[in-house]
Amino acid sequence: MEVLIFPDAQSLASKSADLVESQIKAFPDSVIGLATGSTPLGLYRELIDRHSNYGLSFKLVKTFNLDEYVGVPGDHPQSYRNFMDENLFNNIDIDKTNTEVPDGMAENPLKVGPAYEKMIEDAGGIDLQILGVGTDGHIGFNEPTSSLGSITRVKTLTMQTIEDNSRFFKPDEFQPKLAITMGIQTILNARRILLLAHGENKADAVRDMVEGPLSSFCPASALQLHQRTTILIDESAASKLTLKGYYKFVGEMQDDLVRKHRPSDWISR
Ligand code: F6R
Repeated sequence: MEVLIFPDAQSLASKSADLVESQIKAFPDSVIGLATGSTPLGLYRELIDRHSNYGLSFKLVKTFNLDEYVGVPGDHPQSYRNFMDENLFNNIDIDKTNTEVPDGMAENPLKVGPAYEKMIEDAGGIDLQILGVGTDGHIGFNEPTSSLGSITRVKTLTMQTIEDNSRFFKPDEFQPKLAITMGIQTILNARRILLLAHGENKADAVRDMVEGPLSSFCPASALQLHQRTTILIDESAASKLTLKGYYKFVGEMQDDLVRKHRPSDWISR
């Protein structure tokens, strides 16, 4: 697990966009796993800017979103499909038929997971997965105590997640309590993972994920098992890490090594 610490959310967004851009330039038909929420918004703004002003093309890219609410139609302002359209897809040259989000309105939500897994497999697997982390350590909607071997399925959200997300729904509006989410094993199957986190409210989750025991109680700690995960965090999200100084030192050493010997090593396929 590589931990990169940035002075602020903007430099973190810019570095994560560099990594995504390198992936797409090396493999224009890359398969990218995407997250919603406030965390990746800076990354998506950067990618839109690089598309609009610097010719970065997504024409052949295929995407799979991590999750979607059950019972919220794709054209609802709070659906994750709508979030992706508004914050990324409508502003780049991606072919929308190449963008997959789990179908939260499926007649039988229990059938969505296995079909989604099959679609990912048919696409050749995920080259690069973007993740945020919940304040309770969830990734996707894999809430605490989710099986570390889970695949895409319906999950019941915790009260904390429902509360965290209530800011997006009007007080009298239906707020979903179920979601369809890629599983922890689905995420671990990605060849490369970038987890982004900023802000003090993520400091506990980041500490548990990086330095805590491997435990389904902090689903993000499962990333400790993955060979090519990079955690990109700002100083506030890093504030509770015991070995913060060490991660910075590793960053400097790695920069030097990579510059000298394997400049595009992180790119995966
Ligand atoms: C969203 C997702 C969630 C979020 C997490 C953090 O697709 O999978 O795991 O990444 O809840 O949300 P924000 O970024 O809003 O703090």
